[in-house]
Amino acid sequence: MADPLVIVAELLAPAFASVAGTDEPVDPVVRPSDRADAQANGALALAKQLGRKPRDVADDVVAAADLGGKATLEVAGPGFINVTFDESFLRQQLGVLAADERLGVRPATPTERVVVDYSAPNIAKEMHIGHLRTTVIGDALVRMLEFVGHTVIRENHVGDWGTPFGMLIEHLLDIGEADAAAGLSVGDLDGFYKQARAKFDDSEAFQVRARNRVVLLQGGDPETLRLWKLLVDLSMHYFNQLYRKIGVLLTDDDLAGESMYNDLLPEVVERLRIAGLLQQSDGADVVFPPGYTNRDGDPLPLIVQKRGGGFNYGTSDLACVLDRVERVKATLLLYVVGAPQAQHLSMVFDVAAMAGWLRPPARAIHVAFGNVLGSDRKMLKSRSGEPVRFVDVVDEAIERATVAVLAKNPDLPAEERTEIGRKVGVGALKYADLSTDRIKDYVFDWNRMLAFEGNTGPYLQYAHARIRSILRRGGEQARVPESTLPLVVQERDLVLRLLQFDAAVQDTLDKFSPHRLCTYLFELAQTFTSFYEACPVLKADDATRQLRLQLCEQSARVLAKGLDLLGIEAPERM
Ligand code: ARG
Repeated sequence: MADPLVIVAELLAPAFASVAGTDEPVDPVVRPSDRADAQANGALALAKQLGRKPRDVADDVVAAADLGGKATLEVAGPGFINVTFDESFLRQQLGVLAADERLGVRPATPTERVVVDYSAPNIAKEMHIGHLRTTVIGDALVRMLEFVGHTVIRENHVGDWGTPFGMLIEHLLDIGEADAAAGLSVGDLDGFYKQARAKFDDSEAFQVRARNRVVLLQGGDPETLRLWKLLVDLSMHYFNQLYRKIGVLLTDDDLAGESMYNDLLPEVVERLRIAGLLQQSDGADVVFPPGYTNRDGDPLPLIVQKRGGGFNYGTSDLACVLDRVERVKATLLLYVVGAPQAQHLSMVFDVAAMAGWLRPPARAIHVAFGNVLGSDRKMLKSRSGEPVRFVDVVDEAIERATVAVLAKNPDLPAEERTEIGRKVGVGALKYADLSTDRIKDYVFDWNRMLAFEGNTGPYLQYAHARIRSILRRGGEQARVPESTLPLVVQERDLVLRLLQFDAAVQDTLDKFSPHRLCTYLFELAQTFTSFYEACPVLKADDATRQLRLQLCEQSARVLAKGLDLLGIEAPERM
């Protein structure tokens, strides 16, 4: 464990407990602070509880505390305890970080089985900018959850079932399988969908064919299923290419489309019936979870079986909860889905809880996100007014980044330039998305995301590459030196910042908010820059040079690992 805040909190806890006069652990509430290295604010709450003056309580805690020389304490203000770490302790913790593959990040206790539902495009439909968000946020959370030791089950809940497949299959038959395959494999998903839709809207005969086809599909007709599977495979082939290109972990092994739950749907309805939760509304079987009303103030139902027997999106999501809890045995269910589906998911979770399927420790969380806006602050559209295609955005990011990389470093060999251009372009796009609070909308801005200054992917990648170049020039193995020359303030700040990596990761996972890790990495890069401006590395004398090379190396490691947890590659040079 390298985080000094955590270590000091553990050392302070017994002092708090003894002042409280209890065997129960008391949280010293140790936080980073501008006044000192850290501040313990637990005396305020404890004083209230004991009916004493906070300052007196803080004095008693300081008197009772034994920090073994790791830090000094001082009471400040109304009863805060300022913590200043001892320098030898900081050096020692830097050594712990340097020797630790996990860079000081504590493993989760207890570990859980976590399902992450993300990306989830619809078959035979283009992936748009909204899918960029779920894909990038979901993938970052998967990486972090795995890093802290959870068992993560990725589930790509693609929209691969429902009435549109009737018209899609009939259209496939009209144009012939070979032509359809050719069009879909180059990614003309929207073209295909629109042609099918146009026929459906224009021709009653086609509508009849489409409806009959839906019946065949639902009845399990083998030839219809084969054609359906063809559409799924062609679309997935196209989606997988995109995932590979941008380094997203999803593969066909993670497919858990709506169709996968078909067999469970009657069971869902039956179990809700047995639980006494089903009611009739307009000929449909519904559940009324308390607390939801429509605009007129009437209770809002979750429809599980439509009049005529068909099932709904909500039914398959209920099946999905059942499956994740009972078969997958997950205790944490994350849904990385746009904010507009908040009510839908909340109703599904509530009904699943009412039915007893979702009960502690198992819980479901909607990891919601806002919209990507154009410069007019409306939903981002392409020039033709269509939603922007995910793949087009990726290609343009790579193109623009390749130009920017060339401008910055004209000497890069051509093939390296292409590779770095891809990493920087994809990194810029992902980072722009991850670095804003996910719940907020953000304005899509090429210039800002590709800038080498500011809180951007290229800035962090460049900071990392620059440190790598210092280390290459520094030659020898960096090590924590024996010498105990006092640290200058910029060195001390950098050590402290490096030791906060653990807290940044834990904090990010606490709220499932990747922008917290982004903020930390940006601050680390800035702290490094201040250090590097004030402290010559390669020109310093031996002992100082060793320490500074060590600080460079750990900064590069933390930056690279942090970016990796966000799904962003860190090139060695740029
Ligand atoms: N396919 C859906 C869409 O594009 C998203 C599915 C999200 N996951 C879920 N379990 N409902 O809107």
